[in-house]
Amino acid sequence: KTIYLGPFAHCVTLAELEICEKGVIGVDEQGVIRFVEKEVEIEDLRAKFEGWEDANVVEARNGFFFPGFIDTHTHAPQHPNTGLFGKTTLLDWLDTYTFPLESSFSSIDKASRIYTNFVSRTLSHGTTTCAYFATRHVEATNLLADICLARGQRALVGRVCMDRLSPDYYRDESVERAVRDSQACIDYVRSIDAAGSIVRPIITPRFAPSCTAPCLAGLGKLAQETDAFIQTHVSENTSECELVKELFPDSASYTHVYEEAALLTPKTILAHAIHLSPEERKLIKERGSKISHCPASNTALTSGCCPVRELLNEGLTIGLGTDVSGGFSPSILEEVRHAIWTSRFVAMGTPTASTPTLNNAAKLSTAEALYLATRGGAAVVGLEDQVGGFEVGKQFDAQMIQLGSVPEEGDREGAFGEEGAGGPVDLFGFESAEEKVEKWVYSGDDRNCVAVWVRGRLVHKTARYKA
Ligand code: GUN
Ligand code: FE
Repeated sequence: KTIYLGPFAHCVTLAELEICEKGVIGVDEQGVIRFVEKEVEIEDLRAKFEGWEDANVVEARNGFFFPGFIDTHTHAPQHPNTGLFGKTTLLDWLDTYTFPLESSFSSIDKASRIYTNFVSRTLSHGTTTCAYFATRHVEATNLLADICLARGQRALVGRVCMDRLSPDYYRDESVERAVRDSQACIDYVRSIDAAGSIVRPIITPRFAPSCTAPCLAGLGKLAQETDAFIQTHVSENTSECELVKELFPDSASYTHVYEEAALLTPKTILAHAIHLSPEERKLIKERGSKISHCPASNTALTSGCCPVRELLNEGLTIGLGTDVSGGFSPSILEEVRHAIWTSRFVAMGTPTASTPTLNNAAKLSTAEALYLATRGGAAVVGLEDQVGGFEVGKQFDAQMIQLGSVPEEGDREGAFGEEGAGGPVDLFGFESAEEKVEKWVYSGDDRNCVAVWVRGRLVHKTARYKA
């Protein structure tokens, strides 16, 4: 049993970020939160909780506990290409950077090295749950699930399906192959974690342009048979949208292509969703499918600015995705900033001297973006009853954030004073708890994430972490 002592912050609703300065969270041996107290004097601590006298105590100093981040869309095999995109846009980026790299995951040694590295990397940024695209390769995809399970990171792991408009060296030669290999990965992932408490399979048609209608339909049928999650891309780039119109002339829209294949379910995660029509958004909402907003990628590949505020107003369920390596960072904290930035670009439209209009309503607040990163993401991956906030009965998926100052002399990385100085966020002593959270959001990074837990298990820590 462990008592987590000290300030904690979490999102209660989209609008409300709750910060408790004198917090105490009690977590049992199964990683389940048994009590949450918001105003406890430290002197009372042990006396107050009967049966918890011999619990471990983990204290957040000069910082706070925050729910683990949920990355609702990323590509683990693209990790080596992080930061490489030049001036490409989606379709030439795929041909230039992505397909050559993904095809090399026929090498299990390479897959092992890169997947191990990427899971460590995402954990170090406080990502406790991650929806991963892998590659076409069954063996490497299963290995990614093994690694997530061993490291204790919650994950959805998907074998990528693509049976057309892909290079000869990297394509499913038939619908049967795509479906059979997907089934093999589903069976494997369920064999290593029958309860699905850490790793779960996810059916992964790459996107409509790289799948024939029979392939999409085969995967839709497989989803019905297996009751598995589904992930894909939708309406990311205008050339891609034109291509979908050409390839599926009888479909009413890009979204309808998925609808016709029975791929729009409450367990479907649609990444990007930038250029959707009102009818498409309505259809997605009716089907209960979810959206992964990937703002860093959308700007890097100049795909567009997703009007997230409107989508939220329409009642869609939205989380954040890093979309590595369309996105150039494995950090959901970075994505929080980009979500806020993108919302400001939407708000500014194309302001000129003669039309200086500002649509303030389009802006996301810090609290709203943090909600998407945690509770919103939890709903996207079907874990809204289990993670995303600190409540009795939920599981303890959390990160300990520590703030401080760069010491005047010496090691920016390693400094660790009594109050936990170190890391990139300079505090001057005047900050309220709310202001500390704001400073973390805008100027923090992985150096502030000193420890990470999933279901109460310590899955990452830095030298600054002192239990
Ligand atoms: N659309 C199809 N494949 C991909 C991919 O790997 N990344 C992104 N961002 N979009 C895609
Ligand atoms: Fe993607």
